[in-house]
Amino acid sequence: MDYGFFDDASREYVITRPDTPLPWLNYLGEDDFFGLCTNTGGGYTFWKDARLRRLTRYRYNNIPLDSGGRYLYVNDGGSVWNPGWKPVKAKLDRYECRVGLGYERITGEKDGLEIDLTFFIPQGRNEELWKVRVTNKSKVRKTPKLFSFQEFCFYEALNDMTNYQRTWSIGEVEVESGAIYHKTEYRERRNHYALFACTRPVAGFDTDRDAFVGVHEGLHEARAPFAGRCTNSKAFGWNPVGAHEVDLDLEPGASEDFAFVLAYVDQGEAPKFERPGVIDKSKGREVLARWSRPGAVDAALAELRAFWDGLLANFQAELPDADANRMLNVWNQYQCMATFNLSRAASLYETGIGRGMGFRDSNQDILGFVHMIPGRARERILDIAATQLSDGTCFHQYQPLTKKGNAEVGGDFYDDHLWLVLSTCAYVKETGDASILEEPVGYADRDYAKGPDGRRRHADGTPAESLLDHLETSVAYTMKKRGPHGLPLIGHADWNDCLNLNCFSKEPNESFQCAGDVAGSKAESVMIAGLFLKAAAEMSGLYAFLQRPVAAKRMEAARAEMLAAVESQAWDGEWYRRAYDAEGRPVGSRDCDEGRIFIESQAWCALGGAGADDATDAEGRPAASRGRARKALESVHRELYTEEGIVLQQPAYTRYRLELGEVSSYPPGVKENAGIFCHNNTWIHLALCELGEGDRALEYYRSICPSAKQAKIETYRSEPYVYAQMVAGRDAPCFGEAKNSWLTGTAAWTFVALSQGILGVKPDYEGLRVDPCIARSWKGFKATRRFRGATYEIEVRNPQGASKGVKRVLIDGDELGPAKAEAGKGVVLPLFPAGSAHRVVVELGD
Ligand code: GLC
Ligand code: GLC
Repeated sequence: MDYGFFDDASREYVITRPDTPLPWLNYLGEDDFFGLCTNTGGGYTFWKDARLRRLTRYRYNNIPLDSGGRYLYVNDGGSVWNPGWKPVKAKLDRYECRVGLGYERITGEKDGLEIDLTFFIPQGRNEELWKVRVTNKSKVRKTPKLFSFQEFCFYEALNDMTNYQRTWSIGEVEVESGAIYHKTEYRERRNHYALFACTRPVAGFDTDRDAFVGVHEGLHEARAPFAGRCTNSKAFGWNPVGAHEVDLDLEPGASEDFAFVLAYVDQGEAPKFERPGVIDKSKGREVLARWSRPGAVDAALAELRAFWDGLLANFQAELPDADANRMLNVWNQYQCMATFNLSRAASLYETGIGRGMGFRDSNQDILGFVHMIPGRARERILDIAATQLSDGTCFHQYQPLTKKGNAEVGGDFYDDHLWLVLSTCAYVKETGDASILEEPVGYADRDYAKGPDGRRRHADGTPAESLLDHLETSVAYTMKKRGPHGLPLIGHADWNDCLNLNCFSKEPNESFQCAGDVAGSKAESVMIAGLFLKAAAEMSGLYAFLQRPVAAKRMEAARAEMLAAVESQAWDGEWYRRAYDAEGRPVGSRDCDEGRIFIESQAWCALGGAGADDATDAEGRPAASRGRARKALESVHRELYTEEGIVLQQPAYTRYRLELGEVSSYPPGVKENAGIFCHNNTWIHLALCELGEGDRALEYYRSICPSAKQAKIETYRSEPYVYAQMVAGRDAPCFGEAKNSWLTGTAAWTFVALSQGILGVKPDYEGLRVDPCIARSWKGFKATRRFRGATYEIEVRNPQGASKGVKRVLIDGDELGPAKAEAGKGVVLPLFPAGSAHRVVVELGD
């Protein structure tokens, strides 16, 4: 079955029928104001924080699944329908949804009436526009009536959907010439309201849900659109909504353009009321006036498109693989923006209430975002670091609005702090801006005051701790918190949230992640050990760049100590073990009956440099560990790889295991219990690239690439334009079905795997490194990369059918001396003045 296609030239995915296998989502907004928008208009809008500032309502997991959102009803001579098909679901003569970068354009046509509806959030505005064009394509005059509809949310989303004894008594609105001001709670502590208005005169409005929809009616049979008129209802309590009636009169061939505006209006310090009980609407009126100016809406949409063109221009490539090409150039980068902004907070799977910004998640998201807007990455790194405690542990999550750690979830996930090292080093490599390391950040458990320079200070006047201090604390914490095998303790869990080795939960009412006592436990994680190897290597590289050789040596020594523990305690014969449980028994070992091999430790030990091909012992002789990384990846191929991706572990757990926690709670083949967790697949792609396995890296990349799933979309079901967190593994009856699309670390890491691993275009301290690892069948590729202000137009040629190895480099026609090419690590292209462009030819071979 066909649901759509990529329109590569327009950077759009075109959905051609509304009844997609699952609702397919897009996001509006890329700064402070956001909307979730499905291909039938479902979703909601919020300012900064989906829990604390939600403007419109959405009922998750409703029946039908995706109902509630931005709806436009048409009553065309008694025939009622929606251009986005829902909620009435009348049969349309034509439906099309163009999923665009920051906008969703839905076109519906019936009986010669066409409605072209584009939802978007203009750049830098806390406003959402519904741009509408209605065209009479028939041969007769038409007088259709249009009805806008959305339901207001009382800002705090959890309260809104649980506390009706209060919320059904607080709703208040004001209406001025059809412009609806939702002012619930404004009379007390809020100094913000929502405005929903139309840029053209309206024939009527409704603000009371019962009046517009009815008490016993569903949205598909809402009273007002079927009756053909709004009732001008004024909500008092119950459920305020925003609905307008627009009456049109269109000659054959005529069309009319206008827009609806949903705005979050912050009064700031301005007086709240114009007179007692009447809100000051001056800012709201300004908003409406702005979008009522002819051409303003179109100009804002054009500006949004130009913004994305500019952003994506930082990295563009021409690859011999159409799927990889469009994912890299458009969709993967677009998804990285969403994960950067929203972490794991608000999608069709995350309700915007449960999780805010994740410490480990957001650090990883930065890896796929930093090349787009480094300044925002900088700010985010500092925000995240401020949720670390002085002992090195971190708040696992924080609320974007308050930037304070969430106490309910707490900390003690002993991988969290190490991801901060990776994000910070990625930032410095991208920008060369080492000043971030000196920024005063402070720890979440200490008190600071602001000094005269605006910077945080201790009570004694000394500046708060720097970001670099946080990185040192992170490294020191892992070195300190080690178990009987010399490997890092795991705490509540490591990257694998479900490997809960200290949980021992028999109580269905407790959270696997929070239950259990981590103090005094000896459960250890090999994955954290591998991650530490990488983080320590990154730190030593950073210190080398800072010309602090002593500190660099200190990091190398810590790394060597951890490496020795990994090689002597974690090798299982064919692969690296995953962990040691609280009793010291191995997890992910051939000695286990289930869960014998896990993916994460193979990836991170290899990426951390364990089991290297050239490993030597203290005397310089070949070490026993030589080649283990290669062997571990071969085991991954044999034991875990499928054509839909690599499963997380094998054999899947068939019963619940007290000593392992949530990982064994899932039915075999899904989530962490042997599902294909796309996120960690990408680490294997990178590890393969380190070892020069270009054919396999591409094959694996394609196995999880959503664009490549279109032919099997009935099984895959999720959006073909973004990655999903998980695809069901071969133990599941629905092998190949994707779930939890959009907000996943897969976005950032796939971008890293493809751009830095396979294409080998890697930012480094001294310049842009180029070290491709491609399929031998590729004759080459082109990539344009903006780096520190200069543009590198890189052409990679592969005349000998190699995978890896840079043979020759020409910069602007001149051969680069051999001194610049490091054996096995490609070439570092020099830095160039900002604004300049340079042609680089890289020839692979030996
Ligand atoms: C989810 C979480 C992430 C975790 C992963 C594996 O994606 O957001 O933090 O690492 O699952 O359990
Ligand atoms: C569950 C999920 C895991 C996720 C976690 C977040 O454990 O299986 O993927 O990271 O919830 O709390």
